[in-house]
Amino acid sequence: MGKIKRICAAGLALVLAVGMLAGCAGTAGQSEPKSIKIGVSVYDQYDTFVSQLMADFNAYASRREEETGVAINIEIYNAAGSQTTQNGQVEEMLDDGCDVICVNLVDRTEPTTIIDMAEKKNVPVIFFNRELVAEDLERWDRLYYVGAKAFESGVMEGEIAADAFKEHPEADKNGDGMIQYIVLEGEAGHQDAIVRTEYAVSTIVENGVEVEKLGYAIANWNRAQAQTKMAQMMSEYETEIELVIANNDDMALGAIDALKASELDREKWPVIVGIDGTDVGLAAVAAGEMAGTVYNDKRGQAHAMLDLAYELSVGGDLTGLDLEDGKYIRLPYAKVGPDEVETYME
Ligand code: GAL
Repeated sequence: MGKIKRICAAGLALVLAVGMLAGCAGTAGQSEPKSIKIGVSVYDQYDTFVSQLMADFNAYASRREEETGVAINIEIYNAAGSQTTQNGQVEEMLDDGCDVICVNLVDRTEPTTIIDMAEKKNVPVIFFNRELVAEDLERWDRLYYVGAKAFESGVMEGEIAADAFKEHPEADKNGDGMIQYIVLEGEAGHQDAIVRTEYAVSTIVENGVEVEKLGYAIANWNRAQAQTKMAQMMSEYETEIELVIANNDDMALGAIDALKASELDREKWPVIVGIDGTDVGLAAVAAGEMAGTVYNDKRGQAHAMLDLAYELSVGGDLTGLDLEDGKYIRLPYAKVGPDEVETYME
């Protein structure tokens, strides 16, 4: 059901054979298993950031396989935006004998079914990227979360925007001493969307730049939706928009697509800021189309998730993993402006 990939990170045939003979049990107290099986369900395989995170996860699994000599079998499923589908996928992964399940929740308020099923089979769950409420993570001691500190990305995005206006006072196009802005928001109810918007705006103000909100639109992290919403707001506010605060790079790029499709001269474009540092986002910073982005450490998150999944599967030691409250791994963000962008581009 919706399984998009079944990979053995290295040596496909060999690993499959080893996996069949050795089974997948990585049980605490036993000698190191020859293979482990990790099940992953992503909320939407077409989400740019999540798909890049999974690419890093797979690449790192290959490296860890070589280092450890343990075959790492990974099953990746696409929930395609349905919590019911995702619950079914988790059931399938549990039936399949996965040692650990990694879940990018579709609905972060609905982890109960998954937690109950996993607890019944005593299989640990690592939630990632879409943070559930703390009370849910407390429901069982084999639940973990890997992600980032949402507020930090908002603060950094606000600092990038404030600096842009301080360095370029002419970006206040109507010269009224106030920055007219719009927000392109991710999904309603997503912790990153709510917290990023709040902290980005408050940080701009704390940095001494006065702002006036013209409007906002929900574009679900999606470039095409953001382009449509931006085009609508441009027809409503015409040339008044001086700043576009996007909750992620894909939506910032959607705004840029709308600007490119419009007749507005390049020098009259608003300042645009994003978050993620995806390949396309970084390219837009390098091209000077975005003032900056905030690097959402997909590689750090992918590595932390794999390391944790590995130790949980082989019954290893978690102490080296720096778990906050025994449950959380949160990677820091970083600001990426024109000066830093080269370092982040591969
Ligand atoms: C955010 C990321 C977005 C989107 C979202 C999905 O952390 O910045 O681009 O991927 O997660 O949950």
